[in-house]
Amino acid sequence: MAYDFDKITDRSGTWSIKWDAAGKALPMWVADMDFKTAPEIISAIQERAAHGIYGYTDLPDEWRSAYVNWWKDRHGLAIGPDWLVFASGVVPAISSMVRKLTTPGEKVLIQTPVYNIFYNCILNNGREVLESPLRLCEGPLRYEIDFEDLAEKLADPQCSLMLLCNPQNPSGRIWTREELTRVAELAAENSVTVISDEIHCDLTDPGFEYVPFASVSETARRISATCIAPTKTFNLAGLHSSAVFAEDRFLRHRIWRGINTDDLGEPGCFAPIATITAFEKGGPWLSELTAYISENRRTLEAFLEKDLPQIRLMEGHATYLGWLDVKMVSEDDRPLQKFLREEAKLFVSAGSAYGAAGRGFLRINLACPKGQLKEALLRLKTGVQAFEKQ
Ligand SMILES: Cc1ncc(COP(=O)(O)O)c(C=O)c1O
Repeated sequence: MAYDFDKITDRSGTWSIKWDAAGKALPMWVADMDFKTAPEIISAIQERAAHGIYGYTDLPDEWRSAYVNWWKDRHGLAIGPDWLVFASGVVPAISSMVRKLTTPGEKVLIQTPVYNIFYNCILNNGREVLESPLRLCEGPLRYEIDFEDLAEKLADPQCSLMLLCNPQNPSGRIWTREELTRVAELAAENSVTVISDEIHCDLTDPGFEYVPFASVSETARRISATCIAPTKTFNLAGLHSSAVFAEDRFLRHRIWRGINTDDLGEPGCFAPIATITAFEKGGPWLSELTAYISENRRTLEAFLEKDLPQIRLMEGHATYLGWLDVKMVSEDDRPLQKFLREEAKLFVSAGSAYGAAGRGFLRINLACPKGQLKEALLRLKTGVQAFEKQ
């Protein structure tokens, strides 16, 4: 390996939310990685920082071509350079689109359990959450879309927008072309716009590839906007850089107006250089990273099989998150999550945070050096055993 993912980097003193909020517990919760980003990106930022003037910053053409080339080469999707709208983050962009594309009181559909902040984007803007729970299936443990339920919910005339998480956080599920095609058809039949959040799309196991929603059909392209970013992939969340693309020019214009009205459309001075360098030079680093994370997932899987067979890992080939079925330990995940945090000093996320459908699950972040993962697994084992003895 050309890059050292085993190295533990002390993040204290950097105001890291992940570490500071955890206190004395080992933080395996929020989705940011404990790896330094690609050295090529660090050098580019250092060079920009050395200039010493950090004034208002424009988006050069290279910013567009970096996205376009990455998606063409890595994901086989042709994005028109002028389809891209900068936004300071995926969450701010989604919130802005919720405000621009729906009216207060309208319903926004989400497939649950799902990234908890989707709820905030809807509820904080005075819209209603319309849940279509995913169906929990056995052998292997996975989620399937309940298309009957989805069709019924999308047919609600008060529902005008759907937030799709592709690939899916927290489960790591990669939606198939057939599934996405059907989602697009159902949404189109009911005049529902789809926002596809594809922030996790580059984090797939070697040999697995996600399917961009906009690639599945003419219909999907026409009715959707897609959120993409280098931030999850290259651990750049604190630089606030993302993009939305929509092929339909009318939809795109509305989104662009919304993002500008909400003042989310201007980058900080490090965002363009980090984005351009990530997509132009970060490929080899990412390939090694995904192999490393995949190995961490296998480590977790083997550990559970041998040491904690009462906990089951959901099958998933995307994201760096492990979705753990802990119902054999505790039907309600919250007391277990609290116990692990307070007694075993292991901070993982409670499944209930992702909606009622996440009850009985925990989410663990696997994007860390092997040594840290091993320590987390030991704490998980001693914590679960102590919880069971209570
Ligand atoms: C599905 C999903 N969307 C968006 C985000 C956050 O995006 P941003 O930091 O660009 O607002 C996350 C972070 O965990 C996520 O999991």
